[in-house]
Amino acid sequence: MSHYQISRRRLLQVGAASGAAMVFGRYYTGPAFAAPPPLAQKDSYTIGFAQTDNLNPWRLAETASMTDVFETQLGWKLITTDAGGDTAKQLADIDSIIAQKPDIFIFPPRESEALAPAVLKIKAAGIPVILIDRDVDHSVAKPGEDYVTFVGSDFVQQGMQAAQWLDKATGGNAKIIELEGTTGASAATDRKTGFDDYIAGTFKGTPTADGARSGMEIIASQSGDFLRDTGQKVMETLLTAHPEVTAVYAHNDEMAIGAIAALKAAGRKPGQDVTLVSIDGENAALDAIIAGELGASVESSPFFGPVSHETMMKYVNGEDIPDWVVVQDRFFDSSNAKEFQGKQF
Ligand code: AHR
Repeated sequence: MSHYQISRRRLLQVGAASGAAMVFGRYYTGPAFAAPPPLAQKDSYTIGFAQTDNLNPWRLAETASMTDVFETQLGWKLITTDAGGDTAKQLADIDSIIAQKPDIFIFPPRESEALAPAVLKIKAAGIPVILIDRDVDHSVAKPGEDYVTFVGSDFVQQGMQAAQWLDKATGGNAKIIELEGTTGASAATDRKTGFDDYIAGTFKGTPTADGARSGMEIIASQSGDFLRDTGQKVMETLLTAHPEVTAVYAHNDEMAIGAIAALKAAGRKPGQDVTLVSIDGENAALDAIIAGELGASVESSPFFGPVSHETMMKYVNGEDIPDWVVVQDRFFDSSNAKEFQGKQF
């Protein structure tokens, strides 16, 4: 074996697809490989971290976690960019990082379809990729072939858990406004699938035991882009069009907090005449649960520094890595919010 540590599984994948595995010393010879480019054992690494934005507490916590582990604790170089919530900017950021020749990319793709070709481009440049937090379209770029793996939460499960909680909290009767995350983001698509399917009586393609929730109706569903102020504005508009609303499902806490402000401004009583559920588990959401305004929040951990590093080192050491490294999340409601208050992000 060269100084690269390539697992037997990966060499077999390479050989089977290209007929000739061609790793010459440091150099990956191009996109004919059916496996991601290898990563040498070294004392320190340069990592490309193309962040989608730093516009909410979740994003700031994710950036801080990556910086803390890779720069502060390990003393490695993290090339960090901030796309400011603009997919075109994230694509340009990736190009500029490729030009700086990092050893590996570890980053969250803002949109699933738009970022998939960028993953192929990074691979063609001979740089391995680990996707964190959000995934890309597998019909274009495949984990285990085009990128090492996806490290992240089960967003479909999160949406289902939110629906299940709302079902119980409302006795199965709710007129729901759904505030979606960024259009095209896997976090938004999957959280919608999990929630909407549970209400329709299916989950991950399987009919649920007790069928559709006939008393639960999604009366409107619109993107608030995972942002508090956008969530608030969208809620104001939807509230005017749908005063009959009795529940809100927001794809993240920030939009739920925006919705709470919109409801209060309209003279409604969040937590009393409108039941809210959301996702992330940020500190402000725990405060809102304790205040009785938000019912529950499904956790979505932003702390990707440690798990990214662990996954990267497994790859360096040639260990087998599943196509999806699933992050386990908790659930917060009035029974445990005080225990975690101020300890999140
Ligand atoms: O991809 C995860 C989502 O992105 C978080 O729920 C949200 O707050 C963030 O912007």
